[in-house]
Amino acid sequence: MTDFTPYHEEQELDNNTSDNVHFRDILEQAITRRSLITKTASGAVALTLASTLTACGSDSDSDSATTTPATDPTKLPTKLSFTPVAKNLNDIVTVPEGYEAKVIYALGDSINQYYGPWDDSNVPSGPSFQFRSGDCHDGMSYFGLNTTTGRYDDSKSDHGLLVLNHEYINQTFLHQTGPTNKGTGPRPEDEVIREVNAHGVSIIHLKKDSKTQAVEILKNSIFNRRITASTPMTFAGVAAGSTLLSTRFSPSGVKTRGTQNNCGNGYTPWGTYLTAEENFIGYFVRNSTDDSSRTANEVVALNRYGLKQGAKSRYQWETATGSLEQQDMYDRWNASVVGASAYVDYRNIPNTFGWIVEIDPFDSRQDPVKRTSLGRFAHEDCRTSRAIEGQNLAFYMGDDSRGEYIYKFVSDAKWDVKDVNGGYAAGDKYMNSGKLYVAKFNADGTGQWIELSTSNSAISGYTTYAFADQADVVTHARIAADAVGATKMDRPEWVAVNPNNGEVYVTLTNNSNRGTNYTTDAANPRNYSDPEGGKGNVNGHIIRFREDADTTTATTFKWDIYLFGAEAQMLENVNLSGLTDNNDFSSPDGMWFDPRGVLWIQTDDGAYTDVTNCMMLAALPGTMGDGGKATALSGTATQDTFMGAKVTDENLRRFLTGPKDCEITGVTMTPDYKAIFINVQHPGEDSTAYNNATSHWPATQTDPTNTTARPRSATVVITRKDGGVIAG
Ligand code: FEO
Ligand code: CA
Ligand code: CA
Ligand code: CA
Repeated sequence: MTDFTPYHEEQELDNNTSDNVHFRDILEQAITRRSLITKTASGAVALTLASTLTACGSDSDSDSATTTPATDPTKLPTKLSFTPVAKNLNDIVTVPEGYEAKVIYALGDSINQYYGPWDDSNVPSGPSFQFRSGDCHDGMSYFGLNTTTGRYDDSKSDHGLLVLNHEYINQTFLHQTGPTNKGTGPRPEDEVIREVNAHGVSIIHLKKDSKTQAVEILKNSIFNRRITASTPMTFAGVAAGSTLLSTRFSPSGVKTRGTQNNCGNGYTPWGTYLTAEENFIGYFVRNSTDDSSRTANEVVALNRYGLKQGAKSRYQWETATGSLEQQDMYDRWNASVVGASAYVDYRNIPNTFGWIVEIDPFDSRQDPVKRTSLGRFAHEDCRTSRAIEGQNLAFYMGDDSRGEYIYKFVSDAKWDVKDVNGGYAAGDKYMNSGKLYVAKFNADGTGQWIELSTSNSAISGYTTYAFADQADVVTHARIAADAVGATKMDRPEWVAVNPNNGEVYVTLTNNSNRGTNYTTDAANPRNYSDPEGGKGNVNGHIIRFREDADTTTATTFKWDIYLFGAEAQMLENVNLSGLTDNNDFSSPDGMWFDPRGVLWIQTDDGAYTDVTNCMMLAALPGTMGDGGKATALSGTATQDTFMGAKVTDENLRRFLTGPKDCEITGVTMTPDYKAIFINVQHPGEDSTAYNNATSHWPATQTDPTNTTARPRSATVVITRKDGGVIAG
């Protein structure tokens, strides 16, 4: 979301009132045809996949070489050679000359052969969305599928599982004539079920032709499935079984239902997907006098996470009644004390969200697992350090709200390549036991990782909140981070790890309160005005750091600012990176290093959208420290900082622009580098009514004259017309 502030964004974005220094499976083993036919619930579906698998024939990608220029796809290009895409306001996805963009998976599209296609004039039923694409596509990762074993294989480009988040919904276009009783309730049951099902995660089986590079979804694959805001989930890690997670659904605090507001993502070296629960807090209501039924500690915690008493819910799911679902499915969105104990109501329901959730795309038999040891906050993204045999794994994460923090979790276990395809058992090994840290950035270009542990006296002795145990620390990680004086950042969004040197990049999208509520500091140095009226850190920046001694267990690091967003014509002490018309951008959000080391940067902007729609750029970054000291504009004064080398036209270029009123987010590729996938989220977001849309994408992608279609979030595949390597 952008940094504009209707009620719920204000509720979610700015809750850090601490006075820290302002520096911020389905088939487990091999799929044999026998196991397919005997283990799956539907014989018809299983047999269909068996024929699909038979039809696959060769799973070699090698014949693609006949259409490929003599470029080694695994090599990092020395310079970017595609023609940069010009800034524009067109209602279409624009890609460089020689490339083509195709929409493959839009809101409401069926992932099951027994469910019909989306129909603009007859929106499908709420329950059918368990077999349809959700809304607001976001984080996304491709997992190569070995069609012999039915398991993960990171060398496979002909078959793969694309896993993507559906962050939230655009109510205006999700229902036939918009939402009923919006903002007040009671909401009709079918609409609520559609909305709940339109959240969560999609797993879709893709097949790519190795000659034409054409990508299709295999609608008869048993791998296709949806995970929604109703899907049962298991807790693992230090808070599993804590009384803080007790609900009527699971008094013992070991289960919950649903994942929602899934924003950024990550993937593990053992082949599972990580989805990040971001702005979860706005889904709950609290009675106006609920504080009087709470302990002082509970009130502090609820306020710090943005759920003050009297809070209204974003979609009023708690107001639904009917016969399609049990009433309990709606009651669970009311976080008020209404019963005699936490065992009989949902006072603790907010504590069951805000986690990193592990999903094994290859295993539908087990429930997804919420990995509590990684902490609870508005999780944006979760990226694993390079998997190096014998070294501990680190998981880097941002908390996207103004003035929130950057965290890392370091596994106690050391990486063992035999754990590839280890599924949730491997997750238990690497994600349950370890240390959770928060980052502090110093003015001299150094930084510290401060462990969030009850053994730290700043936490055990914190007077604002009394931590009971380590389960309490991870559940209220924000408060523990306040206690240790972590650095308040300009909205930490996605994280990317450079495969060539392990350096970690974090997008800091913007902060309209930098310079007011949050004074500038070396790591968040800019405070300036946008020509169109915004202020603070208007265009955002990308910070990077390198662990001391290049070890994931380091407790110290060095940092600089790789890149500053800006409009090309801005002052030199704002446009510090030297952006030009070929690469200027605002509000970096999605970001990913492909395995070669090309960095892909995506925007979710509201400050430069008078000139251009949101975009994706390709970058070839140098290394931390390749620039030097810099001086940034900070109000009427300046702020010293450290920045990377200024960019050039050859190492930062605009690769793509999106349709109107959208965000570009989610980026992943096939291992042969010949297909790249991106998501267009909420095209037409600023529309005032279902029949008054500002965008008609994705229909406009093939018919630019369309003026009637509903805008729908969708996944796009981009390939080269000559079948070559993307950005090769
Ligand atoms: Fe869901 Fe922080 O973007
Ligand atoms: Ca965002
Ligand atoms: Ca985001
Ligand atoms: Ca502007």
